Amino acid sequence: MTHILAIDQGTTSSRALLFDAAMDVAATAQEEFAQHFPKSGWVEHDPADLWDTTLSTCRAAVENAGIMAGDITAIGITNQRETTVVWDAATGDAIYNAIVWQDRRTAAYCAELRADGHDTLITQQTGLLADPYFSGTKLKWILDHVEGSRARAAAGELLFGTVDSFLIWKLTGGTSHVTDATNAARTMLYDIHQGCWSSEICSLFDIPMAMLPEVKDCADDFGIAKAECLGADLPILGVAGDQQAATIGQACFEPGMLKSTYGTGCFALLNTGDTPVTSQNRLLTTIAYQIDGKPTYALEGSIFVAGAVVQWLRDALKIIENASETQSLAEQADAGQEVVIVPAFTGLGAPYWNAECRGAVYGLTRSSGAAEFARAALQSVGFQTRDLLEAMQADWQTSGARATLRVDGGMSANNWAMQFLSDIIDAPVDRPKVLETTAMGAAWLAGQRAGLYPDMAAFGKAWVKDQSFSPDMKDATRKDLYDRWLRAVHATLSV
Ligand code: G3P
Repeated sequence: MTHILAIDQGTTSSRALLFDAAMDVAATAQEEFAQHFPKSGWVEHDPADLWDTTLSTCRAAVENAGIMAGDITAIGITNQRETTVVWDAATGDAIYNAIVWQDRRTAAYCAELRADGHDTLITQQTGLLADPYFSGTKLKWILDHVEGSRARAAAGELLFGTVDSFLIWKLTGGTSHVTDATNAARTMLYDIHQGCWSSEICSLFDIPMAMLPEVKDCADDFGIAKAECLGADLPILGVAGDQQAATIGQACFEPGMLKSTYGTGCFALLNTGDTPVTSQNRLLTTIAYQIDGKPTYALEGSIFVAGAVVQWLRDALKIIENASETQSLAEQADAGQEVVIVPAFTGLGAPYWNAECRGAVYGLTRSSGAAEFARAALQSVGFQTRDLLEAMQADWQTSGARATLRVDGGMSANNWAMQFLSDIIDAPVDRPKVLETTAMGAAWLAGQRAGLYPDMAAFGKAWVKDQSFSPDMKDATRKDLYDRWLRAVHATLSV
């Protein structure tokens, strides 16, 4: 038994990766699935798609690696966070589509919560803000809209889970209704200080607590995946939400260490050790990981549009065919032009948290073209990251110098974007050799629990960078650019 199977169930695709005993990737498989947009601002997934693509990619990865299921020591799971599933405990069938983290349907209810002052309790107990992003109000919406569901949930007939929990239920043939502390911390129902579900918040949302999963450490016994699934009974020993798994995969194990993942959105997590830091700057307080019953906390900044701004150049404006073209276009952009894109396509996340504002482009001239748009798109990701780091620094004073930022995700492959990022945040940016940080985090949790992989200290030492980017911009230029960005954001917020 020499391999760990990592399941990475993401927002647009399901992936399965096999890591060998040396923690090298032996095989991968990936499948996209349908996104459903029933109304403006609504985003749903069919839970059957999440399950089917997970199962088929796992089987494909085993085949691609040329191993037998019996060669797998354990399974680690990482997943899109906050996405909410309610299923029938008898059949395992969902009673409504999964409501995806991006879905804004509960914005009005969240505004009511804030107006009634309930946001204080929510932030105190969960470290989150009263925003539709998190699972709690999505779950309430399902219970409010699927007839009879609240009574059935109270009777134990319906179960709630984030995607990890739903997949574990399916894999274990309905024997394990569990989640881990990092996923629980994103529900808006979990008290991150007490380490338990909040009865006060559940009662505020009228959520029967009988439907909530048991919360475990990230490296723990989550149940046995049945042989019908993959060909052998396999223990599930590691679980973490994808951004937390990336924090682990980036070996950000010391307080002050910081990572940022550039996918559709961007999620930056700063390890704050055993102290849950309350943000004065509208960042989230969350659990980075929980091992041996001990939570390690993080400050998190979430940006909803990062790689998605490049997809917008490709799919809506059609000025590029591939994301990688943005690098050479940005290099060619006219230095004299000042195009700024504020990609608030679905509002702005941290630290602005404005669900209503929409995107804007400033500084256009007759000669603004593809190159200037590509540069502005990449710069918008750097500017938004700086917004997060400014807020983090204000919340959690370290020695003064900005910590090195460890980056991963698709856009981290773009050297122009990473150099600009380093310039605008005025700190080193390190890109790791192993870019599969999210899956690696889940695999490491399961592998070290199984005794196959090294402990945290040795894993941290084994982290190797592929390339470093150092700030190379004049202070005055940095200031001018960032001031212009802030003016553009504030103009966008005021429209
Ligand atoms: O909080 C949402 C995040 O977990 C989604 O990540 O990589 O699936 O877009 P991703």
